[in-house]
Amino acid sequence: MTAQLNPRGDVAVLVPAAGAGVRLGPGAPKALRLLAGEPLLVHAVRRIAAAPSVHTIVVAAPAADVESVRAMLTPVAPVTVVPGGAERQASVAAALAAVPAGPEIVLVHDAARALTPPDLVESVAAAVRDGHDAVIPVLPVVDTIKEVDAAEQVLGTVDRSALRAVQTPQGFRRSVLDAAHEAAGDPLTDDAGLVEKQGVPVVCVPGSELALKITRPFDLALAEHLLTLT
Ligand code: C5P
Repeated sequence: MTAQLNPRGDVAVLVPAAGAGVRLGPGAPKALRLLAGEPLLVHAVRRIAAAPSVHTIVVAAPAADVESVRAMLTPVAPVTVVPGGAERQASVAAALAAVPAGPEIVLVHDAARALTPPDLVESVAAAVRDGHDAVIPVLPVVDTIKEVDAAEQVLGTVDRSALRAVQTPQGFRRSVLDAAHEAAGDPLTDDAGLVEKQGVPVVCVPGSELALKITRPFDLALAEHLLTLT
């Protein structure tokens, strides 16, 4: 059954899903890899659509797959599908340009974080609604972190209490994300990085273990197991 989005919602979610995903091995683009028989993108979109504040979902798909991605997602939720770009940042910019008038909160969410719970979408959006221009979900870093040189010789130990592992969805006041993308220079791997360059404060909210990025075969196996528990 196709989910209904909330016409009175104030949140647009952009889903860059145009990456090749070489770290998962050869085959389909990463967002289209199967997890328990369904593409990662389907899992991700289903959970975004279940978040009550979501008004619009825009997916950036590999240019060659726009039609098939649209057909794949139509039974899941009403989505807009646009062709992505060569870099993640270009895919996000293409999706941002397709957001209709209305939503004033924009979340950017990697399709590869396919098991992200709807609650995390809501908590990031709520923090933007509460007045923060830029919000990222984070987890503490559990491993000891060393800085090394090119020869793998240890240069020092980093104080991990001051470090956070950053997830998505990252949330922004719409005007702030628009301005950051207009001013964007070299491609970065996350949108909060672009906003930081503009001098905008970025605040953290608690992330979720379920929002893991499914990047390597190990992550796929872990995600299959997690699905049996949820
Ligand atoms: O490659 P990486 O893991 O950083 O990709 C993060 C997300 O950005 C993935 O969902 C991927 O599909 C997306 N992406 C994209 N367009 C690109 C490269 C990556 O939409 N050109």
